[in-house]
Amino acid sequence: MKREIEVTEDGSHTLFVPELDEHYHSTHGAIRESEWVYIDAGLKYRGKFPANILEVGFGTGLNAFLSMLEADRREAPVFYTAMEMYPLSLSEAELLNYAALTDPAKQELFIKLHQSPWNKACGITPNFTLRKIRADAAHPANYPSDCFYDLVFFDAFAPDKQSQMWTPELFEKLYDLSADGGIITTYCAKGRVRRMFQSAGFVVERLPGPPGKREILRGRKG
Ligand SMILES: C[S@@+](CC[C@H](N)C(=O)[O-])C[C@H]1O[C@@H](n2cnc3c(N)ncnc32)[C@H](O)[C@@H]1O
Repeated sequence: MKREIEVTEDGSHTLFVPELDEHYHSTHGAIRESEWVYIDAGLKYRGKFPANILEVGFGTGLNAFLSMLEADRREAPVFYTAMEMYPLSLSEAELLNYAALTDPAKQELFIKLHQSPWNKACGITPNFTLRKIRADAAHPANYPSDCFYDLVFFDAFAPDKQSQMWTPELFEKLYDLSADGGIITTYCAKGRVRRMFQSAGFVVERLPGPPGKREILRGRKG
């Protein structure tokens, strides 16, 4: 997949995929969006540690990196499972400025997220364990079901670009894999997505979005 690096409005990088005419993050601020949707509305809101997180679309590793910073800050364990089919090369990851803008001392750890092996758990820091799954996340059968997840970070490309990732079957699977009280968040608040969350069983809230986005979605199991 051809990708180009771009700077978003908060100074943080994102990637642009010309083939899909789609960015990995909001152009109004990649770090700002990740913090807002996944860390604040997800990890901090849930506030339960140890936390088992499942991410759909590992991509640049930004959500994983911010979760790692939060786990280390709290000295509270996070087990992070991430699905990805089109991983970045190491040279692409090395260009990204997420550590430089948040905690420059953690650049090596950011790279370690990308270097960690596929399909097995790897300790990145004493509080943060990463398991990257290289598989097609559109297929419910490909998700590891050896645990229940406290949080699901649903960060696929937009539904109009990749409709196969936004299906009732997949959200039903994510509901089944969620722990009681588990939370799912996504940047996309389209009515169709909200209804699929609800049909899967999640109790859904529309929350104010980060700059450039009116609303985001948060679902809860039970
Ligand atoms: C919106 S971007 C993800 C952003 C990522 N969370 C980040 O912070 O960089 C969507 C991600 O989903 C991945 N992806 C697309 N189709 C996929 C598929 N069928 N299975 C698994 N991952 C897929 C892309 O490669 C990309 O990394």
